[in-house]
Amino acid sequence: MKNTARLIAILSLSASVASCCQAPKSEGPVYLDDSQPIEARVEDALSRMTLEEKVKVIHAQSKFSSAGVPRLGIPELWTTDGPHGIRPEVLWDEWDQAGWTNDSCVAFPALTCLAATWNEDMSALYGKSIGEEARFREKDILLGPGVNIYRTPLNGRNFEYMGEDPYLASKMVVPYVQEVQKNGVAVCVKHYALNNQESKRHEYDAVVDDRTLYEIYLPAFKAAVQEGGAWSIMGAYNFYKGQHACHNEYLLNDILKGEWGFDGVVISDWGGTHETDQAITNGLDLEFGTWTDGLTMGATNGYDAYYLADPYLEKLRNGTASEDVLNDKVRRVLRLMFRTAMNNDKPAGSMCSPEHYDAARKIAGEGIVLLKNDNDVLPIDLSSAGKIAVIGENAIKMMTVGGGSSSLKVQHECTPLEGLIAAAGDRIVYERGYVGDVSGSYNGVVTGQDLSESRSEEQLIADAVALAKTADAVIFVGGLNKASHQDCEDSDRYHLELPYAQDKVIEALAEANPNLAVVIISGNAVAMPWIDNVNAVVEGWYIGSQMGHALADVLFGKVNPSGKLPFTFPAKLEDNGAHALNAYDPADLSVEYKEGIYVGYRWAEKQNIKPLFAFGHGLSYTDFTYGDAECAKASVKAGSNVIVSVDVTNSGKVAGKEVVQLYIGDDESSVDRPVKELKGFRKISLEPGETKTVTFTIEPDMLKYFDAAKHEWVLENGKFTAYVGSASDDIRTTVQFEVR
Ligand code: BGC
Repeated sequence: MKNTARLIAILSLSASVASCCQAPKSEGPVYLDDSQPIEARVEDALSRMTLEEKVKVIHAQSKFSSAGVPRLGIPELWTTDGPHGIRPEVLWDEWDQAGWTNDSCVAFPALTCLAATWNEDMSALYGKSIGEEARFREKDILLGPGVNIYRTPLNGRNFEYMGEDPYLASKMVVPYVQEVQKNGVAVCVKHYALNNQESKRHEYDAVVDDRTLYEIYLPAFKAAVQEGGAWSIMGAYNFYKGQHACHNEYLLNDILKGEWGFDGVVISDWGGTHETDQAITNGLDLEFGTWTDGLTMGATNGYDAYYLADPYLEKLRNGTASEDVLNDKVRRVLRLMFRTAMNNDKPAGSMCSPEHYDAARKIAGEGIVLLKNDNDVLPIDLSSAGKIAVIGENAIKMMTVGGGSSSLKVQHECTPLEGLIAAAGDRIVYERGYVGDVSGSYNGVVTGQDLSESRSEEQLIADAVALAKTADAVIFVGGLNKASHQDCEDSDRYHLELPYAQDKVIEALAEANPNLAVVIISGNAVAMPWIDNVNAVVEGWYIGSQMGHALADVLFGKVNPSGKLPFTFPAKLEDNGAHALNAYDPADLSVEYKEGIYVGYRWAEKQNIKPLFAFGHGLSYTDFTYGDAECAKASVKAGSNVIVSVDVTNSGKVAGKEVVQLYIGDDESSVDRPVKELKGFRKISLEPGETKTVTFTIEPDMLKYFDAAKHEWVLENGKFTAYVGSASDDIRTTVQFEVR
């Protein structure tokens, strides 16, 4: 009796302990109970769905949304472009603007600028800020970031990506992904893979050897998936091995879902799906943008005719397609829903907050690159400067609109001229200098700017020169813009040169006034035939809402520039591997990546070509002195880490930030390898006279190359050199180590 009483007491005690420590048991179905593991919810929801409902959730129902299951209370999924701001709303079934009055956003710097910060904290801040904007606008999937490698400076979409180096892009993409997704908003990393040009983007087949694929073009996607934990990825338009990338057995089934274990959703680029059978079997999960006939033509509301809609249902019903494959797609879509739309813990988000404007300005301030600064032309000292002439169309042109799907409707955009006036007042005087693109309407967004101009080219130059002669300092703001064949989706540039006779204007200004700073606004390298005659050059990127303020911060010295180029500026197009080997032709349907792994600086160094500005280059208003690099152990066993450290001192007069870069070269490789490759970087902040020790841990994987025959990464014993410096062409110290 006694024992029984004790047992009852113990049982009731443990029951009450259990009830106070566990979430109350849900009364409803498992899939609605967010205390349950996501996989249990997925299985439960899946088991309740009809065949028709399953097919409904794997294709679009409008331009930017896909259906849920109303009967089960499973909501729709809403996507938005991406990647540097939240796109304004378009109509349900048209590309035209919906005309909302509450869909303006903050435009963040384009991703080239983010990559140029070489600062993972900036990437995290970026992801957090844009994720909050996406969340506030009730989006579940942000169509970005983009990490296609910068293969040619002609690619119209390079501004949306993170440069030419797989290591840099991999490091920079991860915090962006993680921070966006903390908002219960999925990223959709794009465009997977080999979408390295816009010409013939729906038609070309990228012919790439496996080593190049794995060493150059895949690492950033892999990092986004495996380290960032990306919840979705967007298939590219182009072909690879004769199959469209959106339904590609090798890229999607074998590599992404097989080798990398991706558990998220493969979303087609808009109009990137081309047939039902491949869409079923080759890894696509969610079809967008097809309409009935390609991207923009066809019957209204043709969503039921999508390849993964009625044609698929038909095959499922007549038994020519298996429900198991369908279930895998639906599971992935449900998993994404539970992570986003059905995640009850997500924060509310925020839009156009002061914090977001500050973030945009801060990221821009760290991304702007000072390319040249002879005679200390910059910064312009506002305590002594009198008249400052600002010349160039890009000083007044809104750049947040245009460029294709990344085009934005902003709440505010501070143009360079406005930012310079805000900082320097009526000392600023303006002249147009040249006329470029005067259109003010792109992708349905109208800038409202009137850029019409009646003066001739000669007159514009004469007027600019006359003004420049009377000024203490001259700032030319030019470069490219977001019109077709500039930095714009769906077309590539025709050449490396600046358009609209800007070279003439710059030459004339340089002759008129030696205190000339040329600011290039672009997402791409441009030729600078006038470089020897111009003392200061700045790469200003597309910075977004805070463009003018961020440029003023750097030009007037409030911010000490610390950006570094994420891609090489070749002196001429033929100095780029793809062009040297005639391996880029906008008309080609088969694009052979003949330069292989020799992309960007890898090509320049192999060929001993001096670039106009090298990968990793970027000056500061202070100087940094490097001590000797030291290796903790000069010889390590294969499989061990190698530790390299170096002291860096700010030997100048103002505080500044330096990006300490580590490159590795394999001195005794049995295969052809680049002279050196980026394998580490650290951005440090130093007061004048201050020294910091930077330590890099080189993991064995960083020393490997991809052996295509064995289909594995290989580490060879032998000697390696660690090159440490301020740019790929400004190595300050080296140290050799051996792997045994
Ligand atoms: C672009 C994608 C974009 C999609 C939706 C496509 O044309 O390639 O990057 O996300 O449109 O706007």
